[in-house]
Amino acid sequence: MAALTLPVLFICLATLFSLSLQSQEQEDTPITRFQQYLKINTAHPNPNYTTPISFLLSQANSIGLQSQILEFAPSKPVLLLTWPGSNPSLPSILFNSHLDSVPAEPSKWVNPPFSATRTSDGKIFARGAQDDKCIGMQYLEAIRNLKAKNVNLLRTVHISYVPDEEIGGFEGCALFVKSKEFKDLNLGFVLDEGQASTGDEFRVFYADRTPWGLIIKSTGAPGHGSKMYDNGAMENLMKSVEVIGRFRESQFDIVKAGEAANSEVISANPVYLKAGIPSSDGFVMNMQPSEAEAGFDLRLPPTADPDLIRKRIAEEWAPARRNMTFQIIEKGPIRDLMGHPLMTLTNASNPWWTVFNQAIEAAGGKLAKPEILASTTDARYIRQLGIPALGFSPMTNTPILLHDHNEFLKDTVYLRGIEVYEYVISSLASFDGESH
Ligand SMILES: *[C@@H]1O[C@H](CO)[C@@H](O)[C@H](O)[C@H]1NC(C)=O
Ligand SMILES: *[C@@H]1O[C@H](CO)[C@@H](O)[C@H](O)[C@H]1NC(C)=O
Ligand SMILES: *[C@@H]1O[C@H](CO)[C@@H](O)[C@H](O)[C@H]1NC(C)=O
Ligand SMILES: [Zn+2]
Repeated sequence: MAALTLPVLFICLATLFSLSLQSQEQEDTPITRFQQYLKINTAHPNPNYTTPISFLLSQANSIGLQSQILEFAPSKPVLLLTWPGSNPSLPSILFNSHLDSVPAEPSKWVNPPFSATRTSDGKIFARGAQDDKCIGMQYLEAIRNLKAKNVNLLRTVHISYVPDEEIGGFEGCALFVKSKEFKDLNLGFVLDEGQASTGDEFRVFYADRTPWGLIIKSTGAPGHGSKMYDNGAMENLMKSVEVIGRFRESQFDIVKAGEAANSEVISANPVYLKAGIPSSDGFVMNMQPSEAEAGFDLRLPPTADPDLIRKRIAEEWAPARRNMTFQIIEKGPIRDLMGHPLMTLTNASNPWWTVFNQAIEAAGGKLAKPEILASTTDARYIRQLGIPALGFSPMTNTPILLHDHNEFLKDTVYLRGIEVYEYVISSLASFDGESH
């Protein structure tokens, strides 16, 4: 250093400075911005929502979107972005995604789950790459491109980023949809997350299944392990487990026969059994317990009648006459506020469907037959208000890796998705027909 003269030092610094500027410029692309978002760890059980929101805010500012940070539960912020349309009195369009992700076990991953490593074949590995940080960034990139083309929209477009979807959304979207701020959005139509498609067609979801936690409990006279008698707690519980098992099989048979998709039947899967009298080395073996319990994960498609299922549970699965009781933990709505099944029409009766479908075709894509999602998303809270909402994540020819190890999305698929959203956003927000 001492040997350098001042002008040489100046040139060196200037070169360094311009090189670093250049590399920074080169690095600010749709892909690197996606990678930046993926590197922010928002996995449960302790997602930090501050960091992703400040990142998204900086992105929103760079493309001139209005922003609001709302909070309906402590440390559970919702980021709301707005691109005003030329006629803000028309019902607006919302694009929703969640900030959080499920956890990842780094030891089971080839590339670290928050490294957003891009391999030579273009795969970007990260927890959240498919579920659902892709759409969160694609919405912004599509708007960035539309603005660069000086596109002006008729209807106002909003983007929301909500917390806690992966743990049910009870302190996230469920509270957001009840707020004055949400009502004031005057929404006509909503797009939320969908799932990857292994083929050439985009998948689209018009309903979710509603999860119920079912706990059944039995009681009965206790007795010596050697004694044969009727109506023990274990016997009562086992009978119910058999009855529920037969119901499960009958539903699964329909799927196996190809008459319905997995998501179109009622699933009832056993998830725990709790019984026995604990001892120092396990369980007491020579005593029949007086109480036993089992838990089931039930999923109801929107076409299922919840009252009929409650009746079936009360009469066949956990009948009081067999000393059984039950508890249903309803995890979300099953009917909308008008009492209708929670589903969005995918035919000509829903003008938004027609516009959306045409936008996909204009983008050179094709939609697969609309599906019910086997699991749940925040869209159910929006459908509960009677607002049409579809689940859609533009990923074709992609293995379905949400919640799996080595979740990835290919760069070309990601970029194509941005293009698709340009068509979708501009078509929906230019729709000038009657929407209700
Ligand atoms: C989240 O992370 C940021 C940045 O590292 C930190 O300043 C903040 O305190 C964290 N918030 C919570 C709630 O942990
Ligand atoms: C119900 O429990 C009572 C009290 O333990 C017992 O007397 C009766 O036999 C039980 N009935 C059945 C059907 O399990
Ligand atoms: C759309 O589907 C709903 C529900 O199945 C039906 O009631 C309605 O008549 C259909 N509309 C058209 C135009 O097909
Ligand atoms: Zn998701």
